[in-house]
Amino acid sequence: MTGSIVVLGTQWGDEGKGKIVDFLTERADMVVRFQGGHNAGHTLVTGDTTTVLHLVPSGILHESVQCVIGNGVVLSGEALIGEIDTLAKNGVDTTGRLHISESCPLIMPYHVALDQAREKAAGKAAIGTTGRGIGPAYEDKAARRSIRLHDLRDMPKCIEKLNAVLDFHNFVLQNYFDQKPLQPAAVAEDLHRWSERLLPMSSDASLLLHDALNSGKKVLFEGAQGALLDVDHGTYPFVTSSNTLAGAAATGSGCGPAAIDYVLGISKAYTTRVGAGPFPTELFDETGEFLGKRGNEFGATTGRKRRCGWFDVVAMKKATQLNSLTGMCLTKLDVMDGLDTIAICTAYELDGQKITTLPVSAEALDRCKPVYEEMPGWQESTAGLTRFSDLPAAAVSYIERLEKLLDVPIDMISTGPERSQNIVRKNPFD
Ligand code: GDP
Ligand code: IMO
Ligand code: MG
Repeated sequence: MTGSIVVLGTQWGDEGKGKIVDFLTERADMVVRFQGGHNAGHTLVTGDTTTVLHLVPSGILHESVQCVIGNGVVLSGEALIGEIDTLAKNGVDTTGRLHISESCPLIMPYHVALDQAREKAAGKAAIGTTGRGIGPAYEDKAARRSIRLHDLRDMPKCIEKLNAVLDFHNFVLQNYFDQKPLQPAAVAEDLHRWSERLLPMSSDASLLLHDALNSGKKVLFEGAQGALLDVDHGTYPFVTSSNTLAGAAATGSGCGPAAIDYVLGISKAYTTRVGAGPFPTELFDETGEFLGKRGNEFGATTGRKRRCGWFDVVAMKKATQLNSLTGMCLTKLDVMDGLDTIAICTAYELDGQKITTLPVSAEALDRCKPVYEEMPGWQESTAGLTRFSDLPAAAVSYIERLEKLLDVPIDMISTGPERSQNIVRKNPFD
């Protein structure tokens, strides 16, 4: 029996993590976010209702489940309060079951201003961030000048801290980016508002987690973004600013790595990416359009069009290694219904050489040309199927081929956005 599972993205994000976390929460007691911030957009579809979550863990729709925002998350007070209020309006009460680590660094208005000013100034070289202040907030964390949630408990001291750090960032905003400085009084007002709403939910969340694990509770760790957006191992600098890998579940929540029993990698049956950066299997033809349209590939956070392409085994192999994947869930298989031929990228050609490992440098990856093997597609609909034996033979061959190439069992297959639209070959909690 599995006690705790990490669910994470193995590509460039938006693999369907939220949907799968929501589904698996049926068997869980606690769901924990451990990195990222409200750059994430996790979509949950239950019957006719669609819920998009950015900060609140994707277990929240299950009433008996405790949800934790761990210390590794950079927290926007504004975004979280908005999300809690929207959930309440829609009949989802988070009172008493949403817990925030008091160690969370806060995303402040100057982080948002810096993120947006930098992206604007970068012009064509922009990363295509979500503009939510994620990068600057993590920079402040590493530079040890964050205002953390627990700082709000002593407001006079917190305001002193704020004035110093604001002075520093205003200097850059004014002198480097030619922007208006932020007013200390306005930012201080934000802090007061957040302290009122968020402090009652805050605690040393690592202790909650520790107690849950010690008493045999089932815990789901919910990753945000994806392995190829990891700040160390992703396609740097076209990455996010946190570690998005399984190892971060421990550091970003406050438990040891031995607490993790199973790592479930979520991957689309094809590939998407939103924002700039290398993407060797990107399609610029009608197949790319087809996937984007059928898959409704628009960002859940920014609404931007996602770039679409074929499944990339070279990149995925890297993700399987980085995460010690126990098993995988292949999502959006139904989106591929109706394709005559499907291509799988099994190698790259880089400067005339065939390679089967992901180059570290983004410039080198950008020069890589995909080497494909082709398989027949299927014309039948797989939408909503829940039994493996009901899949068309060509879809089974595709899944089995990926399993062989990746050497990781595909334990789950998602066949639609709705919570129940899954083929479960092995439930990770079994
Ligand atoms: P996340 O960030 O990994 O949680 O993924 P997003 O929610 O950003 O994007 C995934 C999108 O695909 C959402 O609109 C989901 O509702 C949808 N989705 C998830 N799984 C499936 C699936 O198996 N088939 C289809 N057609 N849509 C899916
Ligand atoms: P979920 O959890 C897809 C991308 C941005 C940009 C880069 C850096 O929904 O899968 P940032 O704002 O983090 O500094 O942007 O990372 N990005 C995502 N792409 N899904 C996400 O989250 C993402 N979060 C960030 O588009 O390229
Ligand atoms: Mg998303």
